Amino acid sequence: MRTMKPCLLFLVLLICLCQTQISNSIFDKMRVHVINGLTKETLNVHCQSKDDDLGSHDVSVNEEYSWKFRLNFWDSTLFFCNLSWKGGHKSFDAYRSAITDECEESDCRWRATDDGIYLFIIKHKVYVQKYKWEP
Ligand SMILES: *[C@@H]1O[C@H](CO)[C@@H](O)[C@H](O)[C@H]1NC(C)=O
Repeated sequence: MRTMKPCLLFLVLLICLCQTQISNSIFDKMRVHVINGLTKETLNVHCQSKDDDLGSHDVSVNEEYSWKFRLNFWDSTLFFCNLSWKGGHKSFDAYRSAITDECEESDCRWRATDDGIYLFIIKHKVYVQKYKWEP
């Protein structure tokens, strides 16, 4: 029995190491940014997931609101946001796995402008319009 102990300890250590590896790679951290690129109005940002309500935030011109989260194993993480200002409002999915391809490795950048909401497409390094404001 005495010789079993170091072996067991080694096994436990191995499992711990493996889990750290996994959580550092598969469960990557992601940051979603919502930038106020409006000319002169404050932007209200209200984002939520199934489990978390991130609350309502007023963002000044050229400022941003951002949050960070870990992707879950199934990559089923979903955050939706409602952006609103004097010129309109729009509800959309700010993070879901399908968007990831277009985002940077660890950052999704949304930018609200007077004519709509843009996503920064890393492949082309440009902001592309994804949504228009609803009145
Ligand atoms: C988004 O916010 C606007 C302004 O507060 C509101 O009128 C609209 O109903 C909201 N939309 C959703 C889907 O929550």
